[in-house]
Amino acid sequence: MEALAKAHTNIALIKYWGKRDETLFLPMNSSLSITLDAFYTTTSVEFCSCLKSDMFVLNGNLTNEEETKKISNFLDKVRALAGVNLHAMVSSVNNVPTSAGFASSASGFAALALAATKAIGLDIDHSIVSRIARQGSGSACRSVYGGYVEWEKGVAADGSDSYASPIMDGEAWDLSILSVMVDSRNKKVLSREGMKRTVDTSPFYSGWLDTVEEDLEIAKGAIINRDFGLLGKVVEANALKMHATTLGADPPFTYFQGATLDVMEAVKQMRAEGVPVYFTIDAGPNVKVLCQPENEAYVQKVLAAIPTVQSIYLCHPGPGAKVLSRSSLSGTSKKMLNQFHHHSCTN
Ligand code: DP6
Repeated sequence: MEALAKAHTNIALIKYWGKRDETLFLPMNSSLSITLDAFYTTTSVEFCSCLKSDMFVLNGNLTNEEETKKISNFLDKVRALAGVNLHAMVSSVNNVPTSAGFASSASGFAALALAATKAIGLDIDHSIVSRIARQGSGSACRSVYGGYVEWEKGVAADGSDSYASPIMDGEAWDLSILSVMVDSRNKKVLSREGMKRTVDTSPFYSGWLDTVEEDLEIAKGAIINRDFGLLGKVVEANALKMHATTLGADPPFTYFQGATLDVMEAVKQMRAEGVPVYFTIDAGPNVKVLCQPENEAYVQKVLAAIPTVQSIYLCHPGPGAKVLSRSSLSGTSKKMLNQFHHHSCTN
């Protein structure tokens, strides 16, 4: 009972910020993202009666108990759904440079959800895979699909209506997303902890909820009409509103660093010169800059000249999660995934 799957990271245009149910990963608001071509996770899952416990190999190394526990808890949901009680060997390779400022949890849990449900024999459509991925990390439910994706928050207490769906193919509208790395140190406040503290203590949080659904409708319309100026404007404003909530938290915090502001300033400067370019920022100091492909070389050049910028990764819309065959693998992923390939038993 084995399967292999690949899923790409995504960047939120309208942010998921705050949970109404922490156990089921149910969000307070709907969100919208672009799945990216450059970064992805490849995961193999093999369930076998000969395994005494779950095992998790990440980038070729067996992980510790704490990391394995996270995977086990997630697999418990898949096992419960399938009515199967077998342990699994999970092996994952992240083609997501942590230094790029992308979280690997979105691509990681999307790939794991697809590989695990397939390996255990569940024949389910992507919307159910998305619902399962959501319970590993909220943003992972969006990485099940490619291109432009919406995660509808849903209203059901059991989370049955909280999953992502595609709103438009990436090929229908190409955009350039430059991930501008200003600091590769680990985040001080993880997104999970940051959103919880904000929901619990920030007086500005209700203000966030007041306008986020409207932002999402504007962004969705802008995508469908390929209106880059309108999309950029609402994306940038939405990110700033999300970050504003953190300043009101107790204790207060911000993900911005001096270098974050340097990049924001450069984007505003280019805009003042007539280049349509906008930024968004997730739960960390790095900045994602959006522009149209015809301007990407210029934007990259300007950003690379900022002294506090360490590196820039250029991305475009990417595909949704897919089941792969082992023979289609190549290079490092193949080597790492085959290293722990579990075939030794006769069951
Ligand atoms: C700021 O999906 O990482 O990137 O559900 O607790 O795992 P958990 O959080 P996560 O949060 C992402 C927050 C964000 C905005 C977004 O991606 O929508």
